[in-house]
Amino acid sequence: MLLLVLSIAGCERGVHDMYDQPHYRPGDASPLFADGAATRPPAEGTVAHGGGTLAQTSSGRRGRLTPERPPAVTEALLRRGRERYGIHCAPCHGLAGDGDGIVVQRGFPSPPSYHTGRLRDATDQHLYDVITQGYGVMHPYRERIGPQDRWAIVAYVRALQGSRHMPMDKLDDHDKTMLDHAGASP
Ligand code: HEC
Repeated sequence: MLLLVLSIAGCERGVHDMYDQPHYRPGDASPLFADGAATRPPAEGTVAHGGGTLAQTSSGRRGRLTPERPPAVTEALLRRGRERYGIHCAPCHGLAGDGDGIVVQRGFPSPPSYHTGRLRDATDQHLYDVITQGYGVMHPYRERIGPQDRWAIVAYVRALQGSRHMPMDKLDDHDKTMLDHAGASP
């Protein structure tokens, strides 16, 4: 056992050289390129990470990022949210929000289901902030999803949650009739 531990430790020392390879730091001189600089100019049209039109519409990196007010929830907003959710979130969170998307099936850490008490009770603002800033191992989406679309996705996540857990007193008469109807048909 001891021998095994020692030999593994030896291995680590042996490969450590790989961590310390010759390399250039930003701004170093280099004979490799005609301009004598190691740093290459960015290709034409490069947009800085955190730049671009989406980043300009959110106000910062940390904290409450949202001067933008949530738009009214309309059918159009929900449709947009469903589409965006399918593109950006379903790969991990699953189409129904159970946390069983294809990326998770391939080994990515599984997210919590949206259908838990804690996430049902979470505020819209929390969901919005998770999209904007990321959460734990989940990446931030501020550069890929604009504020309006974030709200659209939040509305759709609420709809997913409501699809499994909706207090009767939140339903209007039309909804209740629809429900009776659904219950009546096989
Ligand atoms: C690459 C996979 C992946 C994608 C894509 C993804 N998520 Fe997540 N999400 C996660 C994981 C993993 C967690 C759990 C992170 C943790 O607890 O460390 C999580 C957590 C969450 C949570 C729970 C936060 C909490 O309070 O526990 C919400 C809400 C959420 N994601 C919403 C979204 C939405 C909305 C999208 C689409 C815009 C999205 N996620 C896209 C992987 C993903």
